[in-house]
Amino acid sequence: MKDAQSSSAVEVVLFGALGDLSRRKLLPALYQLDLAGLLHDDTRIVGVARQEHEVQAFIDFTKENLTNFVSEGLNQEVLERFLSRLVYQQLDFKQTDAYKGLAETLSGGNKERIYYFSTPPAIYGDITEGLYVAGLIEAQDRVVMEKPIGHCLESSKVINDMVSKHFEENQIYRIDHYLGKETVLNLLVLRFANSLFTNNWDRNHIDHVQITVAESVGIEGRWGFYDEAGQMRDMVQNHLLQILSLLAMEPPADLSADSIRDEKLKVLKALLPINRHNIKDKTVRGQYTEGFLAGKSVPGYLEEEGANKTSATESFVAIKAEIDNWRWTGVPFYLRTGKRMPAKHSEIVIQFKEQPHNIFKDSYVDLPANKLTIRLQPDEGVELQVMNKIPGIASQMNIHENKLDLSFSETYENERVVDAYERLMLEVINGNQSLFVRRDEVEAAWTWADGIIEAWGASNDKPKPYAAGSWGPVSSISLIARDDRQWVE
Ligand code: BG6
Repeated sequence: MKDAQSSSAVEVVLFGALGDLSRRKLLPALYQLDLAGLLHDDTRIVGVARQEHEVQAFIDFTKENLTNFVSEGLNQEVLERFLSRLVYQQLDFKQTDAYKGLAETLSGGNKERIYYFSTPPAIYGDITEGLYVAGLIEAQDRVVMEKPIGHCLESSKVINDMVSKHFEENQIYRIDHYLGKETVLNLLVLRFANSLFTNNWDRNHIDHVQITVAESVGIEGRWGFYDEAGQMRDMVQNHLLQILSLLAMEPPADLSADSIRDEKLKVLKALLPINRHNIKDKTVRGQYTEGFLAGKSVPGYLEEEGANKTSATESFVAIKAEIDNWRWTGVPFYLRTGKRMPAKHSEIVIQFKEQPHNIFKDSYVDLPANKLTIRLQPDEGVELQVMNKIPGIASQMNIHENKLDLSFSETYENERVVDAYERLMLEVINGNQSLFVRRDEVEAAWTWADGIIEAWGASNDKPKPYAAGSWGPVSSISLIARDDRQWVE
């Protein structure tokens, strides 16, 4: 990986430049890189969209969105510099001939190009073809693809095939923005820079793992998209499985992209299939009904704007996932994610095994096991629950559960939490694929997720209702209680 400061001059070509992701994440992320001095002086940003616009309209649009989405305020000098990098090109993505116009707008020469597809995936193939016909794909160019890559294994293959027709795998950067989050990256450091954890990270020491990704938002006006996807395709197939594979993988030989991705892939392939025979024991799906959040009444899923009142799409999923390999056999990974839960709250809990023998039973009958909590967001941090003696003269030893708490906001109070898209954009510019998902990973994740989705489809069960503002359907409590365990709230 090149030193960030020496990043080369590139042309970032944003397809879907006027869309929501571009406004809220991509343009602000590029601005932040400029502010940090990480964009080469000659780097240009080419906005591409269907609408007819003058460059000035794109500049105004960018300025307005930076003002809205860069929370710490704008630096005028950097803003001027950033806006001067912008170019705009109107394009009908499906018209292969029209890409000649884009070719004229691009600089030509040796500048590396980064094509960022922030459009519906169904047109990734059209864009790739248009770029190819216009002679705009060189070996040094890269393409960034947003999820969802398909809605099942087969459709993901179709999209990947269309893009792979003209881009090699080492030019393709599939985004899972969770891989750019500070706390998700920190999983590598926690696991492989601390012998305390490295040496205890297996079935001999860990009882089970919980991964919770809860959101208080509903579907935010995205009914059409979300109802086709559901929480399984929108969150589990990608974000939760990526977290799980980083947590469970074997130590990679180094930090190179393929060393890490080879190990993650092995985890995904070792997931025990869930199908119609075990679906009822291993999964719970739910759909929110009307309820209260932060003291306000909110509508149920079927009352959201544009809703099809008979939809059986899930907005909540709980799964008992099992990894069938030497390290993890017998250690369940309980996954739980949903919309309209009480708060935005994502964390991993590693529950260690109990001590084999309790010498403190006179004062503490049930000695609790250690627990490592990794708070992904918000209030990022790491917390280890340990037992400690309460100071005092009493002859009987009084002991108590306490926490070693590393809060990132307190420990690194002067450091800004970098947005996932800033890091990912920089990694693309620097040509490092470590934080991007390889095609075989996407396919292994779909293979496992498809089994669950098909088994749900084949059963007559509908998603279980849960009130907005609650932690999901009651049966998600039974899923873990059957194993004599409970969710950590
Ligand atoms: C996206 C999903 O990938 O991730 C959204 O499509 C979800 O439905 C979002 O809300 C959550 O991301 P974050 O970074 O806010 O946790």
